[in-house]
Amino acid sequence: MKIILLGPPGAGKGTQAKLISNEFSIPHISTGDIFRANISEKTELGMKAKGYMDKGLLVPDELTIDIVKDRIAKDDCKNGFLLDGFPRTVHQAEALDEFLVNRKEKIDCALLIDVPREKIFNRMTGRRICTKCGASYHIKYNPTKVEGKCDLCGSPVVQRKDDSEETVKERLDVYDRQTEPLVVYYKNEAVLKSVDGTQDINKVFEDIRNVLGEI
Ligand code: AP5
Ligand code: MG
Ligand code: ZN
Repeated sequence: MKIILLGPPGAGKGTQAKLISNEFSIPHISTGDIFRANISEKTELGMKAKGYMDKGLLVPDELTIDIVKDRIAKDDCKNGFLLDGFPRTVHQAEALDEFLVNRKEKIDCALLIDVPREKIFNRMTGRRICTKCGASYHIKYNPTKVEGKCDLCGSPVVQRKDDSEETVKERLDVYDRQTEPLVVYYKNEAVLKSVDGTQDINKVFEDIRNVLGEI
């Protein structure tokens, strides 16, 4: 099963991705997590990506597309993968399609987690993420079992640098301008499905399980 998760910042892509990846035993590939890992390891890629991310802007396509191609060419993606935060521009989507066509593969489902803008700010300001595995928590809606420690790996959880109100506004604008057009793109490819992301986390996951069960 080859799945793309679509949705604005804070829709719950990362949260649902952990659940889906577990349930369907497919790797969770988050470009945001890959960039953050590179930033904390101070790699060349990390240094380049940081300036864009801190401002809420997209990292340029030429730094992003090859990373994803390399990742999905790995053996563990043979039976499927789950892309979270990629593609994010029409150019990225076209590059992905071209790459898959050459391998005689295709996307089975582009799943939109639909959440209106006004619900998003609350989620972002209370978010905490794991410094090691990237898992997402929320101080109110999805707290860690032990305060300050990831449920999955025990590492410290912290606030994301780009979760300030100002940067979240910018990220939402960037989404509207550059990423939202992908909803139509995947509708035209007849692989678009959507779920109501305003429900609680378990209910959203139940709906996703039903949608994925039908394909
Ligand atoms: P990325 O890390 O992908 O961030 P994003 O798309 O802005 O999305 P988020 O991770 O903020 O939200 P999410 O949907 O994963 O929500 P979450 O599950 O955490 O990208 C960061 C940056 O990297 C970009 O700005 C860009 O610079 C760069 N980048 C990444 N990919 C790129 C690409 N392809 N091209 C170019 N640049 C790229 O949930 C949010 C909060 O809500 C959490 O606190 C969670 O606990 C809570 N929550 C989740 N679900 C619910 C629910 N149902 N009810 C209540 N609370 C909930
Ligand atoms: Mg995320
Ligand atoms: Zn963790």
